[in-house]
Amino acid sequence: MRELNVALGERTYPILIGPGLIDDAGKMLARLASPRVAVVSNEVVAPLYLERLVRPLQEAGVRVCSVILPDGEATKQWDSLNRIHDTLLAERCDRTTTVVALGGGVIGDLAGFAAATYQRGVPFIQVPTTLLAQVDSSVGGKTGINHPRGKNMIGAFWQPRLVLADTDTLKTLPDRELSAGLAEVIKYGLIRDLPFLEWLEAHMDALLARDAAALSHAIERSCANKAEVVAGDELETAKEGGRALLNLGHTFGHAIETGIGYGEWLHGEAVAAGTMMAAELSRRLGWLAGSDVARVRALLNRAQLPVRGPALGADRYLELMAHDKKVLAGRLRLVLLKRLGEAVTWADTPPDEIRAAIDACCE
Ligand code: NAD
Ligand code: GLY
Repeated sequence: MRELNVALGERTYPILIGPGLIDDAGKMLARLASPRVAVVSNEVVAPLYLERLVRPLQEAGVRVCSVILPDGEATKQWDSLNRIHDTLLAERCDRTTTVVALGGGVIGDLAGFAAATYQRGVPFIQVPTTLLAQVDSSVGGKTGINHPRGKNMIGAFWQPRLVLADTDTLKTLPDRELSAGLAEVIKYGLIRDLPFLEWLEAHMDALLARDAAALSHAIERSCANKAEVVAGDELETAKEGGRALLNLGHTFGHAIETGIGYGEWLHGEAVAAGTMMAAELSRRLGWLAGSDVARVRALLNRAQLPVRGPALGADRYLELMAHDKKVLAGRLRLVLLKRLGEAVTWADTPPDEIRAAIDACCE
């Protein structure tokens, strides 16, 4: 088992990464958590892992209730949040109740927001079961739901007390979901870790074959990068750079997800196509060479990710992107690449260049 820390003063918390952790999780949570636990999961993950998590907790005398939500991105909305709150109230959960998210990023974001808002905040633990959640969404405390007008528009920062990533759970993950997670893994290499990018180029086949050592390394390196960025700019308030850099490809990607309807493209797929748009725009600004863009495209291709976005039309993309949370005083701040391994936030991109980059990277 590997242990990393997200260093946030008295709210510092560990990320535990390793095979079979879910079987020990009950015991660990029983030690760490309150006498009451509410597990939030979904109809796909619960049949696979809920019992293994819950039984040891119950054996340790912890009272457990669970909320099992429908699968999919469309679940990340108010009704689901209400269902979690309804259960917490019906079960008379008090402020010492720990909410545990068992699932991918959808469940983690939702359960985290429920924990942040129930009785003004209760403890929260992440047990991520997708690659995307293990490398990104379970770490850093961004929680929330989607709004029909924009992705992740309603939410709160609410850090977990513990992240417990059982790498064995990835064995049941569909191939398409594994690839979606790789989009966020590749992101870390592109924005701040060139040696990791080179490692990914050398080990993409092993990752797709689910080689355990390769996956563990990719998860650990991704979490180490994320933990460092979050510790430096927890609430994404840095005027330049900072946590916003973790959103490479996301402004374009969120426009794709909102524009075609939540759940049509996976989040990681939309991020991949968005990353190509950001890379192409960086080339147009004279920062990346054509060969750099080709290198990004080749790696995303090898990860079996889309490298072209849906043809929504550049104007519709720009309209959707205007809702981005990085917009400040009406100015869109994009995350772009100065070079491979170094990202910047940039507010001075001419709209025509953005349009041209979108057009160049759409079906
Ligand atoms: P997801 O939660 O929808 O999970 C993907 C699919 O895999 C689902 O069908 C799920 O039921 C299934 N699944 C989960 N674990 C499984 C397992 N072990 N075996 C078999 N099937 C399993 O999607 P995701 O890609 O994990 O997360 C995407 C979400 O995360 C998006 O809503 C995105 O906005 C959010 N996100 C949040 C952050 C953050 O910092 N909070 C960062 C990145 C992404
Ligand atoms: N996934 C972006 C962030 O956590 O800031």
